[in-house]
Amino acid sequence: MIVLGIESSCDETAVAIVKDKKEVLSSVVATQIDVHKEFGGVVPEVASRIHVENISICIEKALKEAKMTMEDVDVVAVTKGPGLIGCLHVGVQAAKTLAFAYHKPLVPVHHLAGHIYANELVVDMKYPVLALIVSGGNSELVYMKDEHSFEILGETQDDAIGEAYDKVARVLGLGYPGGPKIDKLAREGKAIYSLPQPKTEGRYDFSFSGLKSGVLQFVKRMERTNQTFDMADLAASFQETALNEIFSRVTRVLDDHPEIRHFVVGGGVSANSRLREKVEDLRKRYPNTEFTVPPMYCCTDNASMIAIAGDIAYSTGRLADASLTADSSWEIE
Ligand code: KG4
Repeated sequence: MIVLGIESSCDETAVAIVKDKKEVLSSVVATQIDVHKEFGGVVPEVASRIHVENISICIEKALKEAKMTMEDVDVVAVTKGPGLIGCLHVGVQAAKTLAFAYHKPLVPVHHLAGHIYANELVVDMKYPVLALIVSGGNSELVYMKDEHSFEILGETQDDAIGEAYDKVARVLGLGYPGGPKIDKLAREGKAIYSLPQPKTEGRYDFSFSGLKSGVLQFVKRMERTNQTFDMADLAASFQETALNEIFSRVTRVLDDHPEIRHFVVGGGVSANSRLREKVEDLRKRYPNTEFTVPPMYCCTDNASMIAIAGDIAYSTGRLADASLTADSSWEIE
């Protein structure tokens, strides 16, 4: 089965063609990072307009690279949500147009399901699965009893972890996107500063806004009192506190649910080197569970993951018709 996937939920216009959920025939990603860098974050209206400019070019390029025409495609899959509404609309309209013009089935895909199924590019997931999604817009722990069954066990009560990385990077004057810059800087420092420990009600929920404000207050206090601090140590302290918040919840879930056979990670923050080390620690602690962190190219937004999730959604009968619309806050459950 040949699936053409379209992703446009944030600042990447992406189109991919995937055969039988494993073989990526083409994967085109047009990133807008350089444009949004100037503003220190994604500007939704600007992002939507660039998606409009890029989408047809990306579709043509993906077909050309796969040496195919639309006649060869079996299914069109598209991110319906969640994400930035204007951005999502561009992908959804493009997918609807292709499906209508070429008489192809149309499958709406949840962006987080895409991040989870990106793991299928490198491994066959074994259920029950625990998926950790950590990106610029999401921080979630999702339990999957079976294929295409999603239960949110824990989620952020305020900011997403990637958002916290980006905001802390801005406070430190590191630029956008902040995640990779903090990751690199933190490797040169030690987590010696004590920052506010996040507090949440739910057993598996996260919180990052207090920590983010804690970094801002720390910097202001140092400036006010004419004290110096080490940027690398502060980056390491922030990163360690943020990741401990995530991993303390992950271990709680793994202890409470010994039936979990596979732990997978998805989303842009899974590119983080310290996070990857912490997954290695878990691997030693839970020898009966399989642990997978996909390679970098599948962690950030791409359309191969949408095509794979679309293939699975199609095989379970989740089709849409021409009335399909984008949903910026679509629930995965
Ligand atoms: O999944 P993604 O490409 O886009 C969505 O948010 O959907 O994730 C982007 C986020 C940004 O917040 C970026 O700073 C963060 O992922 N990120 C990282 C790293 N690489 C990207 N955060 C921490 N460490 C990294 N190495």
